[in-house]
Amino acid sequence: MLIDIVSVFPEYFSVLDLSLLGKAQSKGLVEVRAHNLRDWTHDVHHSVDDTPVGGGAGMVMKPAVWAECLDELLGLEPQDMPQVDPTAELWDEPVQDSAAENPGDAANPGDVANPDNTVDSADTADSAGTAGITDVADTVLIFPNPSAPLFTQRDATQLSHARHLVFGCGRYEGYDARVPRYYKARGVDVREYSIGDYVLNGGEVAVSVMLEAITRLLPGFMGNPESIVEESYTGSNALLEHLQYTRPTTWRGITVPDVLTSGDHGKVDRYRRDQALARTADIRPDLIEKLDCVALSKADRKTLIALGWEVSGRNPRKL
Ligand code: 6GU
Repeated sequence: MLIDIVSVFPEYFSVLDLSLLGKAQSKGLVEVRAHNLRDWTHDVHHSVDDTPVGGGAGMVMKPAVWAECLDELLGLEPQDMPQVDPTAELWDEPVQDSAAENPGDAANPGDVANPDNTVDSADTADSAGTAGITDVADTVLIFPNPSAPLFTQRDATQLSHARHLVFGCGRYEGYDARVPRYYKARGVDVREYSIGDYVLNGGEVAVSVMLEAITRLLPGFMGNPESIVEESYTGSNALLEHLQYTRPTTWRGITVPDVLTSGDHGKVDRYRRDQALARTADIRPDLIEKLDCVALSKADRKTLIALGWEVSGRNPRKL
């Protein structure tokens, strides 16, 4: 996987040379290239931002600088796209498939285009199951943006199947909204993601979060791939994890629950599953509401009923 990151603080990404991602880079599993957006400016001040059209506080990143940079990284020739609606939501169906109409757009359109537009990031928040999870374009252009759909484990899994990821980190009040819309119209699989309901100073931290979630899913990245499967937010289960303990079984007078030392693996599994259901119902009831009742075992349904949930419909409902 090739990862291009564009930022006005490319030094920030030296953190990616540490730890597991650093190891994955030395193993050749991933190549991370951090670029300075200012390298694509032509003025003496290397300015990348300007005041907002319509007035208001802050500065907005100029589209022309981003375009010179992204054209180069994506292998596209500059081209006007007067038909692009500057207000269209990225995740809406395109009015027309301009990628199919202009097959000569990209140097290698098959590499960057998602002509079927089969990937819809707006679906990711509520869609359960794994359908379409590997359905991702070869190259994906990603803009961190606090006013965008939430980045989820499902997105991480899907993006781990791409060959080339390009991240564009905004600063100030963000980037000109025409930039992602332009590249979508050029046939690129473009995404905008927020990592949570809080405000950061720029996209750099968000990109490192997304990159860690994506790259740890690459085959060969983790020493023990089983530890990926059992974790929170994975698969149709999407429950918070049960609590974990290690030896000594009594520490500072606190003894771990007896069932865990009973040696009865069936009982341990049931105890942990019930704890996962109870913790999720308490902390993240929204995740319980997304479970598929039919996919739940009889024992799971019994536990949820005891916790005050109704499980006879399609999804559990709190009574
Ligand atoms: Cl992706 N960017 C910024 N600036 N703030 C955020 C965010 C992204 N996600 C949550 N807060």
